[in-house]
Parts: sequence; structure tokens; C-alpha cells
Amino acid sequence: MRIASRLCLMTIGLALAAPGFAAKDPNLKLIKARQGEMQLRSFNVGPLFGMAKGKMEYNAELAATLANNLKTQLELDMGRAWKKGTGNDAYSGKTTALPKIWTTYPEIADYGKKYAKAINELAAVAGNGVDSLKAKMGAVGKSCKGCHDEFREEQ
Ligand code: HEC
Repeated sequence: MRIASRLCLMTIGLALAAPGFAAKDPNLKLIKARQGEMQLRSFNVGPLFGMAKGKMEYNAELAATLANNLKTQLELDMGRAWKKGTGNDAYSGKTTALPKIWTTYPEIADYGKKYAKAINELAAVAGNGVDSLKAKMGAVGKSCKGCHDEFREEQ
């Protein structure tokens, strides 16, 4: 009886500990960080696409601010968040990053460079009128999609 209840307590103990272990896996934190950085890109770029497509009224000040936010984001070194072994093969359901990122490295860096170029060009003119904005948003959209098509699980 005593042994049985002890065993029972041990089982409960283990059950409680299991989610704790999972939450402490530092890789989950870095996956969240890189996804957060992507979410921030999306948050900043959304209204710029809206304005370029005429779905939202052009506002020079907002356009310049958002484009500069995207440019400022380029300054972040997110290298630590892209640790080898954290693709969707090992973390299925937690990440959409394809293992190809690491097996073909540094191929993805070329996509990052294209993106940086598009953002820098955008930030230089985003506040100069809707036509200037429109002229640069195509390349931005292509650079997001281009990288996702290659290195991100299909959505
Ligand atoms: C150089 C490659 C690259 C570029 C450029 C890029 N992304 Fe991503 N993006 C990724 C990868 C890889 C993931 C998957 C990350 C993960 O799930 O760990 C991702 C994920 C995302 C996600 C999902 C985040 C989540 O919470 O799961 C969003 C939103 C996103 N990107 C938006 C953008 C936008 C908007 C742009 C352009 C303004 C952009 N990305 C440019 C590679 C890129």
C-alpha cells in the first residue's frame, strides 16, 4: 500500500515535470525570437503594402516611419536565433523553418541580401509620395516571398 502510493506520487511528479522540461528547452526560445522578428517585419510592412495597393490612404509620415523601422530591423544580428538543428524536422509544429536553411548554407544569406537591398531602397524614398512607394514595394514583396518559397514550410 505504502509502496503503491509512493509509486503513484512519483508518477504524478514525473507528469508535472515533463512540460517543465519542454519549456526549458532553450531552442524553443530562440525559435520564438526569430518568429517574433518576422512578426515585426509583417507588422511594419503591412500598411506599406496597403498604401501601395491603394487599400489604405497614403500617409508620407507613416510610410517613412514604417520603412525606417524595417531598415532599423536590418541592424539586428539575429544569428543566434538561427541555430543549426532547429528546423521543422526536429521541431515539427513549432517552426516552419526548413532544414535546407542549414544544409545549403550560406545560400539563404543571398536572399537576406536581396531583402536588405529592397528595404534600403524603400526607406530612401517611402516618404516621397505614393508613386515612389509603389515603385519599391514590388521588390520588397518578392524578397519576402522568394525566401519563404525556398526556406519555409509551405503555408
Ligand atoms: C532570408 C529569408 C527570409 C526573408 C527575406 C523573410 N523571411 Fe519571413 N520567414 C523566414 C523563415 C525561414 C521563417 C520561418 C521561421 C520559423 O518558423 O522558425 C519565416 C517566417 C515568417 C513569418 C511567420 C512567423 C511566425 O510567427 O511563425 C512571418 C509573418 C514572416 N516570416 C514575414 C516576413 C515578411 C513580411 C518578410 C518581408 C518583409 C519576410 N518574412 C522576409 C525567412 C525569411
